[in-house]
Amino acid sequence: MNTPITNPDSLRLLRLHRFAGLTLAAFIALHLLNHLFALVSVEMHINFMQFARLIYRNPLGEALLLAAVSIQVPSGIMLVRRKGWRGIAFIERVQVASGLYLSFFLIAHIFAVMMGRYFFNLDTNFYFGASPLLSWLWWYYVPYYGLSIIAIFAHVASIHFQKVLPRTSLKAAQQQALAIACLGVILSVLLLLAFMGILHSFTLSAEYKLF
Ligand code: HEM
Repeated sequence: MNTPITNPDSLRLLRLHRFAGLTLAAFIALHLLNHLFALVSVEMHINFMQFARLIYRNPLGEALLLAAVSIQVPSGIMLVRRKGWRGIAFIERVQVASGLYLSFFLIAHIFAVMMGRYFFNLDTNFYFGASPLLSWLWWYYVPYYGLSIIAIFAHVASIHFQKVLPRTSLKAAQQQALAIACLGVILSVLLLLAFMGILHSFTLSAEYKLF
């Protein structure tokens, strides 16, 4: 089912990709946990972010995170180019497609956060994330943000499927992967409702009305 990588160069690239991926996964887990607090209240999201920033917004944390992204995106694209698209199984296609979307999203998202921080001199908190969803650009940002959460869970689901398949039945592996992907869809909808002010209403101050 899985097409193994055997070329020594590609194996080294895969190890680098996995290592950067694990570093990034630690940040993403913290970031998504942060966003889950928005389901409770905007204040809790902002307060948790103050704490989380102690971990990723110091020179070491920020350097590690940006280094992981700079390794993860090009190594992922190189792996896709070497593996190809045609000869791979459906589950690997899910992994590749979600990985490519995450590459695009990470670059665009980090660029936006840096612009917010250094160009607009804003505190890039909950309101900064919510701002485009409450603007005329909502039709772009709903799928843009929504797919980012779904892509993470789809990426994890496809890796999980390939890892557990040798140790369990095909049906059990499929059910587990589907459960992970469904969780992603549910979370994506809930987070969009929170950031759009539908779950808990909030008003944007003038400085966050960017569009
Ligand atoms: C609903 C979806 C999302 C929203 C609304 C959102 C919002 C935000 C906000 C407001 C920040 C600024 C954080 C700060 O100033 O401390 C941020 C930073 C960041 N986000 Fe997201 N995010 C979302 C999803 C994601 C996903 C899925 C990923 C990973 C694939 C991600 C990766 C990052 C990264 C790498 C940073 C930069 C951290 C830094 O260097 O300070 N985000 N995001």
